Amino acid sequence: MNTRTTRTIAAALSLTAALAISGCSSSDSGSTTDGKTKPALTVSGAFMPEPVNDKMAGAFMVIKNDSKTADKLTAVTSPLSDDLQIHETKDQKMQQVQSLDVPAGGELKLERGGDHIMFMGLKNKPNVGDKITVELRFEKADPVKVELDVKERTYNAQNSNAH
Ligand code: CU
Repeated sequence: MNTRTTRTIAAALSLTAALAISGCSSSDSGSTTDGKTKPALTVSGAFMPEPVNDKMAGAFMVIKNDSKTADKLTAVTSPLSDDLQIHETKDQKMQQVQSLDVPAGGELKLERGGDHIMFMGLKNKPNVGDKITVELRFEKADPVKVELDVKERTYNAQNSNAH
């Protein structure tokens, strides 16, 4: 008795998988979606306030995680500096941390007075209007390239009160 009528209905749910993965094909080893769902991360509002000198600069943005898999920001690289750090702010003092959580279905906010990315030592001093490329590395998601807009020193994404 052979039942060849068993039909599996392939429920192809193409959710957020097709987020612009076009463009510069960085050497991508390994397959992308074989059963495992990598977090789909999107970055918005990325900027760097024009630094005062070439010693350090901060970078701010919102990293959104639309997947059900929690991830972590683990490293940042940029042609502008060989030493990028991930900082958090505790009791108004910033300190380096190994990673920052990007919660499932949530977001990681990098903002003034809070968690942020810090360039330690710049190869040159960026000016307002410049664009700085950074690459964000995550524990699970593929690296994400982001362009930081260099903004006025007082610029703030949300108009939270400066102090
Ligand atoms: Cu810092």
